[in-house]
Amino acid sequence: MTMCNITLNGKKTKFLPGKTILENTRDHGVKIPVLCSHEALKPYGACRLCIVEIEEQGRKQIVTSCNSHVRDGMKIKTHSPRVQKIRKTLVELLLARTPEAAVEQQLARDIGVKATPYPEQGELCIMCGQCVRTCREIVGACALDFVHKGSKRSVAVPFFRDSKECIGCGSCVFVCPTGVVSMHDEISDVRGEPERIMDKWETRLPLQKCSSDGNVFATRRMLEHFARKHEVSEGFLETCSHCLRKGNTK
Ligand code: SF4
Ligand code: FES
Repeated sequence: MTMCNITLNGKKTKFLPGKTILENTRDHGVKIPVLCSHEALKPYGACRLCIVEIEEQGRKQIVTSCNSHVRDGMKIKTHSPRVQKIRKTLVELLLARTPEAAVEQQLARDIGVKATPYPEQGELCIMCGQCVRTCREIVGACALDFVHKGSKRSVAVPFFRDSKECIGCGSCVFVCPTGVVSMHDEISDVRGEPERIMDKWETRLPLQKCSSDGNVFATRRMLEHFARKHEVSEGFLETCSHCLRKGNTK
């Protein structure tokens, strides 16, 4: 493969042409702050924290490194004064939106922001979109989306109520960097059966009991979703993976 000749922060080096600027700089040990980027998801380009300054044929511009590819002869500065200034303002704005989010506080410490000059909004969601994109791109359930615009923008299930699309897999809980998405399992007051409650999405889903050991192991909707998408072994819908592995099916 023909490598691209790049000047990274003043040093001549080689970059892989099929990779983004962010991926290449990481391979070279240069750390660029990110918020909306996740290696399992497609580049999204929303938070803008990963900006770098590039120069080609004498023309300089600021681009987001997570969704920009390299070209031969490019000069890249990851921490130029112009980049640092914009990044600082972005972190100050994010810190104003979500002052309690640990991920923002860490970012602020990393780039030397001590406080925000903007009015605090007290949100917890940093709008990274990782829950929405994981649900869509990895799980294929498409239960979540962004609603409203500007400062009212947030993530929600359709019509803000018990969702028919949510399968209760918990991927959004796992991927959310702030912990604002949560779920818990409990015995339903109405049916007396175990249920999973997706707290933020106001969705309740019946849990499946293993036909072999009697323990609850997944929501029924999640098992049906994966059974539709993949060829599943006999007993998949009724038996937990522990018993399936041991061959204990009924
Ligand atoms: S709920 Fe969590 S994962 Fe979803 S956009 Fe907000 S911070 Fe990101
Ligand atoms: S990490 Fe590139 S825009 Fe968010």
